[in-house]
Amino acid sequence: MSSSAEIRVLTTPQELFAAAAEEIVHLTNEAVAKRSRFTIALSGGSTPKALYNLLATNARATLPWDRMYFFWSDERHVPPTDPDSNYRMADEAMLSKVPVPPGNIYRMPGENPDADATAEAYESSLRKFFQVKAGEFPKFDLILLGLGPDGHTASLFPGTAGLQEKSRLVIANRVEKLNTDRLSFTYPLINAAREVAFLVSGTDKAAVLCSVLEENVPGEQYPAKLIEPTDGKLVWFLDRAAASELPQAK
Ligand code: 6PG
Repeated sequence: MSSSAEIRVLTTPQELFAAAAEEIVHLTNEAVAKRSRFTIALSGGSTPKALYNLLATNARATLPWDRMYFFWSDERHVPPTDPDSNYRMADEAMLSKVPVPPGNIYRMPGENPDADATAEAYESSLRKFFQVKAGEFPKFDLILLGLGPDGHTASLFPGTAGLQEKSRLVIANRVEKLNTDRLSFTYPLINAAREVAFLVSGTDKAAVLCSVLEENVPGEQYPAKLIEPTDGKLVWFLDRAAASELPQAK
């Protein structure tokens, strides 16, 4: 894990999400002032839902939603109506409640049977949006990530081919243990971001978090370990329960 990672331990989940929301408001205003837009890749799973709710309520009036562009760092191979859809979760918790133009929302179409073709198409839309050529990597203002109990992040799972990807931006990553293909950002794309923020909450994440942050084990075993922004910032937003096994918490 990069030594420059900032680890922020908040007492409760509510304080964790409030701190993350504050960071997003700050980064949004900074990016819009400098580049007239803010680009964010949302994470899925259950943890970020409370953050999205908070942005759609407390920050609804202050954020320049028309200047914000939403992407996903990964998606399940399901339709947007499916309870497992990361898009559906973000839409219900935030996007359907705020004045963001539909054209600013770049959903990963998980419903398409051909996951490889979907990944290629999403990669092309990223290259077009960020106007980057082959071999170049777009710079997101912020990429949100979560941490799975096995150390996976986005849909980069232990032992999967996606961990070796060096040039693609988005891949269909075969996850045998889930018997599915997941759409996922790759390490090179994630590590090119201006800021990457992990949201990790709850005691059930304490052991794996300790392995990711403390143990000297190969990244392939805990894929979140290989998130090391090239020249960007890495922030871990943790609640005390998740941080309970970290040396500094003892
Ligand atoms: C996904 C996610 C994944 C998630 C972790 C943590 O699609 O599942 O993007 O990487 O962040 O699995 O999930 P929870 O927040 O539900 O614990």
